Amino acid sequence: MSENVIDVINLSKTFETGTRALRDVSLQVPKGQMVAMIGLSGSGKSTLMRHLNGLTSPTSGDVWVLGTHINTASKKQLREARRHIGFIFQQFGLVGRITAIENVLSGSLGSLFGPRFGVGSYPLRHRKSALEHLDRVGMADYAFQRADTLSGGQMQRVAIARSLMQQPAVMLADEPVASLDPESSAQVMEILLRVAKEEALTVLVTLHQVELALGWAERIIGLRDGEVVLDDAPKKIGKKKVMEVYQRVAPADVDVDEIAQESIRALEAMKNAN
Ligand SMILES: Nc1ncnc2c1ncn2[C@@H]1O[C@H](COP(=O)(O)OP(=O)(O)O)[C@@H](O)[C@H]1O
Ligand SMILES: [Mg+2]
Repeated sequence: MSENVIDVINLSKTFETGTRALRDVSLQVPKGQMVAMIGLSGSGKSTLMRHLNGLTSPTSGDVWVLGTHINTASKKQLREARRHIGFIFQQFGLVGRITAIENVLSGSLGSLFGPRFGVGSYPLRHRKSALEHLDRVGMADYAFQRADTLSGGQMQRVAIARSLMQQPAVMLADEPVASLDPESSAQVMEILLRVAKEEALTVLVTLHQVELALGWAERIIGLRDGEVVLDDAPKKIGKKKVMEVYQRVAPADVDVDEIAQESIRALEAMKNAN
C-alpha cells in the first residue's frame, strides 16, 4: 500500500455522453502538502476531485485516498474514508439563517448522530473547538452573526472552520475562491496553507487561474483537456509551462489568451518581487 495520502493511478473517465473528462491521470500527494490544481473550465478538475471522495467512479484506473481503494470501497468503507476528507466548494454551503458558530458546529462528528438545535445542544468541548476553529480563520468575532449576513470571503472562512471540526486528514477545495475578490481569495489561500502546515493536512485546491497557485501552493498540477500537462513547484514554473496549461482546447466562452497572458504577467511580477 502507498505511503501517499492521495494516490491516483492511470485514471481515465469517459462519461456516458462520450466526453473524455480524464485521460490517464496519475498523481501522488504526500501528507501535509498543499497542492493547487489549475486548468481552464472543462479541463477535468472537478471530475478528478469527485473521484477522490467517491462521488464519481472511474472508467479505468485506481484511486487511493488514505489507504482506501475508493473505487472499489463498500458504502461503509466510503463513509469511513469520507470522515477524514473535508470538502470545500465555491458556493460555501452554509445554512444562512443560523449563526456562524452553529454552522461550524454542524461539522462536528457528533452531529452525524442526529440533528441538533442551537449552540447549547452541543457538548461543551465541541463548542470550544468550534470557537477555536473560528479563531484560526479569523472569524471569532463573527461567531454569533447569522451566516447570511457575512461577506463571501467570511462565509468561505466559516466553511473552512466547519470542515476542520471533523479533523480531516485531507482537504479538497474545489474552486474555493472563484467567487471572491482578490483580497478575500488571498486570505482563504493563506488559511489553507497555514492549516496544511499546522496539522500536516494534505490540501488539494483547484483554481482556474495561476496567480494564487503561484503565491500559495507548494506544488502546481496543471490539467488540460483531462490530461496532466504540468506538475512542478511554483519556483520552477515559467512562461512555457503556463502556456502548456492554457493553450489549445477550451470552451468558446473562455478567453484562453487573456488568461494565459494574465497568468504570465502575474508570474513575472512575482519573479521580479523575489
Ligand atoms: N456528469 C457529467 N456528465 C457528462 N459530462 C460531464 C459530467 N461532469 C463533467 N462533465 C464534462 O467533463 C469535462 C470536465 O468537467 P469538469 O471536471 O467539471 O471540469 P473543470 O472542473 O475543470 O471545469 C467537461 O467537458 C464537462 O462538461
Ligand atoms: Mg470545476
